[in-house]
Amino acid sequence: MKAAIIGAGNIGAALADGLLKSGNCTSNDITLTRRSIHSLQELSDQGFRVSTDNKEAILHADVVFLCVLPQQLNAVLAQLQDTIDPKKQLIVSVVTGVTTKDIGERLVPGVRIIRAMPNTAMRVNASMTCLAAANATPADLQLVQDIFNTLGTTIIINEEMMSAATALCACGIAFFLRSIRAAAQGGVEIGFHARDAITIAAQTALGAAELLLQNGTHPEEEIDKVTSPKGCTIAGLNEMEHNGLSSAMIKGIKLSANIAQELYKK
Ligand SMILES: NC(=O)c1ccc[n+]([C@@H]2O[C@H](COP(=O)([O-])OP(=O)(O)OC[C@H]3O[C@@H](n4cnc5c(N)ncnc54)[C@H](OP(=O)(O)O)[C@@H]3O)[C@@H](O)[C@H]2O)c1
Repeated sequence: MKAAIIGAGNIGAALADGLLKSGNCTSNDITLTRRSIHSLQELSDQGFRVSTDNKEAILHADVVFLCVLPQQLNAVLAQLQDTIDPKKQLIVSVVTGVTTKDIGERLVPGVRIIRAMPNTAMRVNASMTCLAAANATPADLQLVQDIFNTLGTTIIINEEMMSAATALCACGIAFFLRSIRAAAQGGVEIGFHARDAITIAAQTALGAAELLLQNGTHPEEEIDKVTSPKGCTIAGLNEMEHNGLSSAMIKGIKLSANIAQELYKK
């Protein structure tokens, strides 16, 4: 598969890395673009094709990934408008808050678009990616699902859930990372060196996630197995809840989802 990644920032570069590791593409099959040529040097050194010319970059692409910020998208769509070949090329947009209708209105009629909301764990083939297709074929959706399945796990959702997906899945990486950092900071205060504290906290978080995913259980069911009466776990957990642990997470996710909805200005 030949891929063009328009916007080689955090998510664009992670996507390129993931596509390479998944075996879907060689580095020579992937063209990444940015406006500043010097920022592309590192990717060029890794063997990727790079360009500052979006039109040229998509010429031979089967799939065009849009990976710019919402406020940068209209300029990109204006550049690609005459070059996209709807019969040959599929558009995959990871841009927050921009609907397939918004994109379609700015491109040629009949263009096929899929929205994807992955996270940066694509780099380690562990992304949670939510996909929505309003005007693409089942075969297109299957192709994109196959791509993102090699970069982690996928779920197909209704497009109106995309801002919610942004909060829970894309921003979610940061929320869980901050939780791990907080746990590690607690670990240092009770005697671990920082590096060991992060390893212990991160592996424990991974274990907690695996318990849920492999057992199909509810978190509270697994918590019940760890909290003995009058024990140290329930004491620590309740102290965190008195300080608003669950409430802070819920409020943060709601705020992120609301902001995600408003990021794109037509
Ligand atoms: N980061 C995440 O975890 C994540 C997860 C899911 C979805 N997303 C979505 O993915 C998109 C990108 O996010 P990000 O975090 O990767 O942002 P980012 O790091 O700022 O990347 C955006 C990139 O687009 C490039 N760019 C801007 N205008 C361009 C143009 N006209 N032509 C070519 N390249 C252009 C910028 O480089 P120059 O300034 O050099 O042009 C920059 O490298 C956003 O819409 C975000 O909502 C992000």
